[in-house]
Amino acid sequence: MQKSFDSVDEAGRESFPASDPPASNLPDRAPPFKLPDLPYSYGALEPVVDEETMKLHHDKHHRAYVDGLNEALAKHPTLRGSTVETLLRDGGRVPEDIRTTVHNMGGGHYNHSLFWKCMTPDAGSLDGDLRKAIDSTFGSIDKFQAAFEAAGQKQFGSGWVYLVANSAHGFALEIVTLPNQDTPLNVRRVPILACDLWEHAYYLKYHNRRPDWLKAWWQVVDWQAAGARLEGARRS
Ligand SMILES: [Fe+2]
Repeated sequence: MQKSFDSVDEAGRESFPASDPPASNLPDRAPPFKLPDLPYSYGALEPVVDEETMKLHHDKHHRAYVDGLNEALAKHPTLRGSTVETLLRDGGRVPEDIRTTVHNMGGGHYNHSLFWKCMTPDAGSLDGDLRKAIDSTFGSIDKFQAAFEAAGQKQFGSGWVYLVANSAHGFALEIVTLPNQDTPLNVRRVPILACDLWEHAYYLKYHNRRPDWLKAWWQVVDWQAAGARLEGARRS
């Protein structure tokens, strides 16, 4: 069974603290999804992520996904109380008139909620079980990073590059790219680490040089959080 990611679960509970699966006995004014706070200041990831990009990315782009998701769900009150994971995983049960919007806006909310937590101003070293898994899967951390960057560079247009775990195969690590706001839930994988490939994530500083963004991004990766996700997935 596909397991949801702790941090995104946290975001889901925080933003839409109700039952899962969807409940129909909630009050009409059940709280909508909320934009989660950044876990650091706008300028904390300078110079890798410039402050202006962070402000626009979080306050405008992520907020637009949250607002779009809430607007769509307002048309179907019976969906109040669903977590974002449920809405994405069971997309076929979402009413057709809002299905595409929920996929895109809900996916944007899910991906960005995770993305903020993939970065930290206090980046530590990669160690523990995640280090061992990366070494055994890809050969070395350098080879993993090269493969991750190459996958991100090849993704045509907007999207994401993810390190994921495959729960159907002993939580084996894989690198996947996802177009637009598709999420690992769409491919039944557990997210471990995500990098945003949309131009809004890097264009102000890196312009059209996505490879430079991908290479610089390692400086702010929160390896401890990534390791905790793998550990949590294996325990669940
Ligand atoms: Fe983004």
